[in-house]
Amino acid sequence: MTVARLARCKILPSHLPRMHLPSAHRQMSIAAGLKNSSIFRSQGLIGGKWIGAHDGKTIQVNNPATGEIIADVPFMGRRETNDAISSAYNAFNSWSKQTAAERSKCLRKWYDLIMSHKEELGQLITLEQGKPLKEALGEVSYGASFIEFFAEEAKRVYGDIIPATLADRRLFVLKQPVGVVGAITPWNFPLAMITRKVGPALACGCTVVVKPSELTPLTALAAAELALQAGIPPGVLNVVMGNAPDIGDALLASPQVRKITFTGSTAVGKKLMAGAAGTVKRISLELGGNAPCIVFDDADLDVAVKGALAAKFRNSGQTCVCANRIIVQEGIYEKFAEAFSKAVQNLQVGDGFSEGVVQGPLINEAAVQKVESYIQDAISKGAKVLLGGKRHSLGMTFYEPTVVTDVKSEMLLAREEVFGPVAPLLQFKTEEEAIRIANDTNSGLAAYIFTNNVQRTWRVLEALEYGLVGVNEGIISTEVAPFGGVKQSGLGREGSKYGIDEYLELKYVCLGDMNRK
Ligand code: SIN
Repeated sequence: MTVARLARCKILPSHLPRMHLPSAHRQMSIAAGLKNSSIFRSQGLIGGKWIGAHDGKTIQVNNPATGEIIADVPFMGRRETNDAISSAYNAFNSWSKQTAAERSKCLRKWYDLIMSHKEELGQLITLEQGKPLKEALGEVSYGASFIEFFAEEAKRVYGDIIPATLADRRLFVLKQPVGVVGAITPWNFPLAMITRKVGPALACGCTVVVKPSELTPLTALAAAELALQAGIPPGVLNVVMGNAPDIGDALLASPQVRKITFTGSTAVGKKLMAGAAGTVKRISLELGGNAPCIVFDDADLDVAVKGALAAKFRNSGQTCVCANRIIVQEGIYEKFAEAFSKAVQNLQVGDGFSEGVVQGPLINEAAVQKVESYIQDAISKGAKVLLGGKRHSLGMTFYEPTVVTDVKSEMLLAREEVFGPVAPLLQFKTEEEAIRIANDTNSGLAAYIFTNNVQRTWRVLEALEYGLVGVNEGIISTEVAPFGGVKQSGLGREGSKYGIDEYLELKYVCLGDMNRK
């Protein structure tokens, strides 16, 4: 049996010779196997139909670990986006009128299908995004959890009765879906950032046009295929990709799109916010972070090292909640730097399909160049590279896991989101100074603190200007908790019981003349 035929099986058997093949061949066989799978799609989805760009233009999707081309997908723009908006608008009428229980059943089925295709979806994520397969499988479970959670929440969208101020009146509040949603999602979580938006939107009766990143559209298309298989009606979920500015402009310009939800850079978020003003759309933004990770003298060293490592190096440092500044108190600084560097040294870098790898490549050359320029800036201003600090010998976009000491607040490494495997260590003396350094940024997404002092924990977490705080823990995201930032890290919350409110309008109703018989 050929590798390609074996790979057609849903789960590649562990005895498959893929680990013995050279990396490029192995991945081509995985890609070949996936292309024959029932979930592989390489066209856009509009009104339940798989469609190419009107002019036939395509864009390549590459594997960042090898540079190989995995697929060509349509390079769509305004025209296709307007078609997708129309189909979402037409589908809204019937989808929003289904009972919550009916919508819930479709979502539950979608969740089941995602989980039963976990292996293939994980492989797709590793192929197009680069994160290690184990982490990619973790993303599939994380992404699916939003669909499961909102399948349940669909049935809990309650209104309110308000005690009336006049005897002949009855006052109440209805919650209704906002309408067509434009969801623009990033490449760092090709599945989870879609399900975190589409789950609550569909649960309460909205319909959606998704624009996944052109770097990672294949996971989005596979998830959309599973949505169709789950019985989610045509037009309820549409996917277009290609020319990002044109697609964004079409979503913003359309009066039929009532909400924009976006995860990505603060710069693009600001443009979307300004663009949404033209038609006064609802907007949720999950933007960049500059997460402080504060380690106090009284922290448990092992817990702090483990937590900071997880918070910094998840997805090779390419998450909005990755620790961006590790701020360590002077009494524990040397010990922490040594133990942390040892742990970082053990992180195995490589192709995400290889056994034991925990750090994949960066998404593209521009990402590596950004990391390099921040390191250069830090060195020129007096920082010292304790570990790493250069491109990895594997080539491509692999970068060595890096620890930089003597970092100061004015350096780019401390001011901007590095989005790479670089841990800058800063030093502080007092609790007040730590809080001042932590809050000295326009961002306010995630923050982490490591301490064993209960009173300090409360003081510091209350003083931190952030939407999420991890205490003695570096991985805090879950579907049951509200995810989102303050300041320029965004607006609104995703996940949890609060997440569905972003897709609902309140309608106040005053029923008068109650005394008439
Ligand atoms: C993100 O990086 O935007 C999302 C991270 C998460 O959900 O934990």
